[in-house]
Amino acid sequence: MTKLAVGAILAIALAAASSIRVSPPGAVYIDPLQYNVVGANYTKWRNSSLIGFNPTNSAPPFIQVFDPSFLDVTGPSATIREIASNPGFAFAHEAPIYVPDLNLVFFSSNGGGALGYSGWYNNSVVSMINMTEVDMALASTPGNVNIQVQTLNLSDNVQMVNGGTGPYKGDLLFVTSGRALLPPSVVRVNPSPPYNTTVILDNFLSRQFNSLNDIKILPGTDIMFFTDPAYGWLNGFRPEPMLPSQVYRFDPSTGQVRVVADQFVHPNGIAFAPNGKTAFVTDTGIFGGFLGTNQTFPATIYQFDVDPTTQSFMNRRVFAYSDSGAPDGIQLDTKGNVYAGCGDGINVWNGEGTLIGKFYLNSTTAELMFTKSGLVILEETAMYVTNIQARGMTLATW
Ligand SMILES: *[C@@H]1O[C@H](CO)[C@@H](O)[C@H](O)[C@H]1NC(C)=O
Ligand SMILES: *[C@@H]1O[C@H](CO)[C@@H](O)[C@H](O)[C@H]1NC(C)=O
Ligand SMILES: *[C@@H]1O[C@H](CO)[C@@H](O)[C@H](O)[C@H]1NC(C)=O
Ligand SMILES: *[C@@H]1O[C@H](CO)[C@@H](O)[C@H](O)[C@H]1NC(C)=O
Ligand SMILES: *[C@@H]1O[C@H](CO)[C@@H](O)[C@H](O)[C@H]1NC(C)=O
Ligand SMILES: *[C@@H]1O[C@H](CO)[C@@H](O)[C@H](O)[C@H]1NC(C)=O
Ligand SMILES: *[C@@H]1O[C@H](CO)[C@@H](O)[C@H](O)[C@H]1NC(C)=O
Ligand SMILES: *[C@@H]1O[C@H](CO)[C@@H](O)[C@H](O)[C@H]1NC(C)=O
Repeated sequence: MTKLAVGAILAIALAAASSIRVSPPGAVYIDPLQYNVVGANYTKWRNSSLIGFNPTNSAPPFIQVFDPSFLDVTGPSATIREIASNPGFAFAHEAPIYVPDLNLVFFSSNGGGALGYSGWYNNSVVSMINMTEVDMALASTPGNVNIQVQTLNLSDNVQMVNGGTGPYKGDLLFVTSGRALLPPSVVRVNPSPPYNTTVILDNFLSRQFNSLNDIKILPGTDIMFFTDPAYGWLNGFRPEPMLPSQVYRFDPSTGQVRVVADQFVHPNGIAFAPNGKTAFVTDTGIFGGFLGTNQTFPATIYQFDVDPTTQSFMNRRVFAYSDSGAPDGIQLDTKGNVYAGCGDGINVWNGEGTLIGKFYLNSTTAELMFTKSGLVILEETAMYVTNIQARGMTLATW
């Protein structure tokens, strides 16, 4: 067979494969071409990114498809179902860590924000949800379920957990924002009783960090990278920042800490591509805590090359700008698609930065985590799971 013939057969096979892409129930296709020109009499202009783009006025939660390739992410039967809810308490904010062996997701409540009941005088809480219980409950009904989450009782050296990853050598790896004069830290937590903790870093050469926000391990290494915005101060639970808002690299085997990226407004979520060659840092610049919201600042995911020798973040460029709220927590799947919690739910871009779809909740969503049961979404006062086909890149370090 000639090369040309092989190519032609491949093209036909691809066309057939794409024609059998099946939309999940309730998914809405939004063809960008249909909205490129809306005319001056359009009645749905949005001058606030806090109102979502939902031109079909569909009832949330539902799946929005901006590019047919998103159906490869969702698969044919994805639904979005609530698995836990507590309307009075933002119990499900950030720091999700999935421990496959235990089939548990750990996460933290909102530190210093709405319905978080934490601040200068009060710590936030870390909880866990048992995904085996979630699976069993979901199998018994077509609707939503409300699984009891369990609060961990962590030692007082863990204050305002805001980010996490792992398992790291079998432990949960959290960053804390600190509270009042108690320092922000990187801390290992045993995911099993007695949930004992070990702080592994709480300063930069005796200077307290501002309020650590999120952490990831560079794939194939055990080197930690974390962000340090000023949100502790902006949300009223930390003193005025004494360091720039930047990204740090920490080698736990030598104790060396250094800065690998700066020039952010409020660096927030962090993630690496599965091959470890590129890094992503979200900037929630529009959200200024007591300074208010200013939409002229970034709501942006920046992409960098990870320098193979120094592991500094090089060649910064815009990867994506979110049309809704600001991208907060960020995770990648095995194919290199990029998922971030935004003002209207989870937004998904392909590796080139094209918006391909959303898990549209119509409310601010900070984080997400891949599990065996699907994608778990933390939406402050509720948690959802969507049983998509895509799988998360591995975050475990041995
Ligand atoms: C827009 O509305 C104005 C005022 O009602 C009307 O005169 C005009 O024809 C409309 N334009 C279009 C394109 O419909
Ligand atoms: C934005 O829209 C809101 C609601 O329609 C309106 O009250 C406000 O004045 C608008 N602001 C600007 C700057 O256009
Ligand atoms: C989305 O939420 C806003 C309030 O934040 C509400 O006014 C609007 O009706 C909701 N949209 C839908 C389609 O539910
Ligand atoms: C801190 O906790 C106390 C006691 O639980 C509560 O009365 C108070 O409202 C909390 N503070 C904030 C800022 O939520
Ligand atoms: C999770 O729930 C299942 C079913 O009730 C139970 O067998 C298992 O022990 C629980 N896991 C943990 C770690 O508690
Ligand atoms: C934490 O303490 C509360 C109150 O004493 C208790 O109900 C809960 O079971 C404890 N959590 C764990 C994981 O042991
Ligand atoms: C928890 O305690 C055990 C037993 O002392 C110890 O081996 C382990 O390293 C501790 N884990 C953490 C995260 O502190
Ligand atoms: C937003 O920030 C810009 C740049 O600092 C400033 O010029 C503008 O006044 C701010 N707008 C609001 C509404 O605060």
